[in-house]
Amino acid sequence: LLTVTNLQQHYSLESNLLDQLFSRNRQVIKAVDGVSLELERGEILGLVGESGCGKSTLSRSILQLIPPTGGKVEFQGIDITALGRDAVRKHRRQMQMIFQDPHACLNPMMTVGQSIADPLFIHKLANAEEAKKQVIQMLERVGLTPGEDFFRRYPGELSGGQQQRVSIARALITRPQLIICDEPVSMLDASVQTQVLELMLELKQEFNLTYLFITHDLWVARFFCDRIAVMNAGKIVEIGKTRDIFTNPQHPYTQQLLQAAPLLARTH
Ligand SMILES: Nc1ncnc2c1ncn2[C@@H]1O[C@H](COP(=O)(O)OP(=O)(O)OP(=O)(O)O)[C@@H](O)[C@H]1O
Ligand SMILES: [Mg+2]
Repeated sequence: LLTVTNLQQHYSLESNLLDQLFSRNRQVIKAVDGVSLELERGEILGLVGESGCGKSTLSRSILQLIPPTGGKVEFQGIDITALGRDAVRKHRRQMQMIFQDPHACLNPMMTVGQSIADPLFIHKLANAEEAKKQVIQMLERVGLTPGEDFFRRYPGELSGGQQQRVSIARALITRPQLIICDEPVSMLDASVQTQVLELMLELKQEFNLTYLFITHDLWVARFFCDRIAVMNAGKIVEIGKTRDIFTNPQHPYTQQLLQAAPLLARTH
């Protein structure tokens, strides 16, 4: 479904363009530094690594939310790094994102119904009447019942878990193929985390989804992911089946990461 080849996102620290062009010793942050990976249709690939290693930057670069400074992203065989803005926007309907903090992503002035319907209008997929019907169905599907009630409510009136269900509904409403989840449950209580993860597994089956799942929580990664990519300082240092990563880590950095979570390393 997705092939990422030697992707780079280098941030230059010079404040203006002239400085960037003429400064002799340019300061560059290599947030993503030559990442290659493949996502099979239907799989869940976890992306783990410590804070600042480049996970969020990688996901934004894959979606072309920030144009990468190098490398290639092929989605369904099409090189989306070579497309213009409008063409990329069309493809973005197929690739949606779920973020850590639903509260920050949902417009507090819009009802839940409006927020979820928004992508349908942006991509011209439905008129108002069809959109309402689809949104209510989707609300019920993510466990916000009765859908009619939640349709009219505002994000501020919902719990964190309910807000994240709204974000999931919003991400799924355009029927995407790929969902990139950036720490989707890390702000939720443990019991709510499990409920939301289980919902995401059900939805994956029902809508034939593929997930790229970013987390710093190795427990969550082990529960949820088929394969895991370990990222350190902008590079993928190891990628493999979840079981192999936990039982037989090859790279010293992976071993170190697992040692920081000793309960996990012991259980197999
Ligand atoms: N717009 C930017 N300009 C300059 N540097 C940036 C920018 N955005 C991110 N960075 C740097 O890129 C690196 C990677 O950041 P990123 O947010 O991708 O890490 P992360 O793995 O998602 O971390 P976390 O687990 O804390 O979310 C960091 O060193 C960060 O400071
Ligand atoms: Mg991040």
